[in-house]
Amino acid sequence: MAREFTRVGVVGLGTMGAGIVEVFARNGIDVVAVEISDAALERGRANLTGSTDRAVARGKLAEADRDALLGRVTFAVGLAALDSVDLVIEAVPERLDIKQRLFAELDRVCKPEAILATNTSSLSVTEISVATTRPDQVIGIHFFNPAPVMKLVEVVRTVVTSADVVADVEALCVRLGKVDVTINDRAGFIANALLFGYLNQAIGMFEARYATREDIDAAMKLGCGLPLGPLALLDLIGLDTAYEILDTMYRRGGRDRRHSPVPLLRQMVTAGLLGRKSGRGFYTYERPGSGKLVPDELTPDPAALAPADGARAVTKVGVVGSGELAAGFVAAFTTAGYEVVPVDPSTGLGQLGDVDLVVEAVPDDLSVKKALFVGLGEVCKPGVVLATTTSALPVIELAMATGRPADVVGLHFANPATPLVEIVRTIRTSAEATDTARAVAAALGKTGVVCGDRAGFIVNALLFPYLNDAVRMLEANYSTTGDIDNAMKLGCGYPTGPFELLDAIGLDVSLAVQRALYRESREPGLAPAPLLEQLVTAGRRFQV
Ligand SMILES: NC(=O)c1ccc[n+]([C@@H]2O[C@H](COP(=O)([O-])OP(=O)(O)OC[C@H]3O[C@@H](n4cnc5c(N)ncnc54)[C@H](O)[C@@H]3O)[C@@H](O)[C@H]2O)c1
Repeated sequence: MAREFTRVGVVGLGTMGAGIVEVFARNGIDVVAVEISDAALERGRANLTGSTDRAVARGKLAEADRDALLGRVTFAVGLAALDSVDLVIEAVPERLDIKQRLFAELDRVCKPEAILATNTSSLSVTEISVATTRPDQVIGIHFFNPAPVMKLVEVVRTVVTSADVVADVEALCVRLGKVDVTINDRAGFIANALLFGYLNQAIGMFEARYATREDIDAAMKLGCGLPLGPLALLDLIGLDTAYEILDTMYRRGGRDRRHSPVPLLRQMVTAGLLGRKSGRGFYTYERPGSGKLVPDELTPDPAALAPADGARAVTKVGVVGSGELAAGFVAAFTTAGYEVVPVDPSTGLGQLGDVDLVVEAVPDDLSVKKALFVGLGEVCKPGVVLATTTSALPVIELAMATGRPADVVGLHFANPATPLVEIVRTIRTSAEATDTARAVAAALGKTGVVCGDRAGFIVNALLFPYLNDAVRMLEANYSTTGDIDNAMKLGCGYPTGPFELLDAIGLDVSLAVQRALYRESREPGLAPAPLLEQLVTAGRRFQV
């Protein structure tokens, strides 16, 4: 028989703690909610009532149920109020010293049989547990943000956590309506180990002005179907928490440079830009705690983005290529009202003398594309925008082959169905050519995002290292394909898990992209996972 939890304690009522209180109280469990000071307690109470009021307003919670839920919560300053609870979970800041001090205190205050749980994202549960005299009753219960919404809970057992405690907590997760994945104590567990390298890399892109914050976020939302772009997600997580998680991941997780916090993140935390909780992070919010965006000095001026601004008139479009992709472009441009001249590269370039835009979709091979761009430079009239749809080659190489690099852009459509186009601007592309590409993307009904000319552009550069990391995690036998896929879907709201996605993309294509990223960056962490190479060699898939 699993242990019955009738009364639990939650320590720290910030971004996560208030949501965890809500999860317990919603499921009929009495909660003692503890903060460090009166002011923090009031903020925590406001977090909880704000969230439950929103649930009522959205029709997700009846008023009477909200009142009953709030009636189950007792608020207190200080740990003494936790003397009668069956389980405590803490959600205080992500610092080992703070958590160890807290656990030593909890050990003194709580009943001897009480389970002591941490919601840590990256710290060692084992190191936290040894601050108590009952390490066998210490466990990680890692909820996801927002706790009332995200289905996943990672249950983290250490080498000394007792099997009964693990089973009791697993049963509790079921009672809370959550899906649990039970795993060992490793930095970042499943989801954060796969998520945070990606988030840090996105900050790096923003810091390097590779693309705007709006374009980085739109690329990942529209290109991968994610619920939030990486920078908006960081604002939701809290930049101070994100900084601590990255720093711990770097130190505990093998000193992978990809986890070393990008300097901008530290600067933002120091400057008090903590994300939604302080009202300002990568974006600006209506007020602290709000998720409602308000314009700030970085918000693009809609007038400046108007297609007319600097864009050249395009009425006639040449589409070069004979494959499916080329046929897709012919159809898309025709539907959008353009006059289309489809040509086969071996024969028909001469017909492109009077087009305003050329889009090529010939095989993604440098020598084939280069030869084509030499030809385009010879036959096209001046001022034509020449676009390559390459997903892997440096656009500048093709631009230089034309003799008119200012007119050359990349137009990367991940696949014809995605609503996204990455517009790749090389160091020689003119503003007019970029504006023209934006206008054409809009006319096709797509969102255009502008980025620099680096391997993988925005989407693939951020997506594939994460996929490769998932393969490495599997290779290390930390978890299974099913649990890893579930963790990303239920913990982070991804539409597909990494293994499902790798199978859908094709492992050979995935390996080629990963190799291109590695070749350009020489980042050791980006080297293709040996298991991926082996599966490609063997002609196998994950088949999840
Ligand atoms: N933010 C996320 O998205 C997220 C997701 C999953 C897990 N976590 C984990 O949850 C924990 C909390 O993170 P957060 O983002 O909610 O932090 P937060 O900064 O939003 O909230 C921390 C709260 O703890 C309180 N506090 C600090 N010291 C305390 C003490 N000694 N006793 C009682 N309360 C104390 C603070 O007043 C604050 O309200 C961290 O371990 C973090 O890694 C965070």
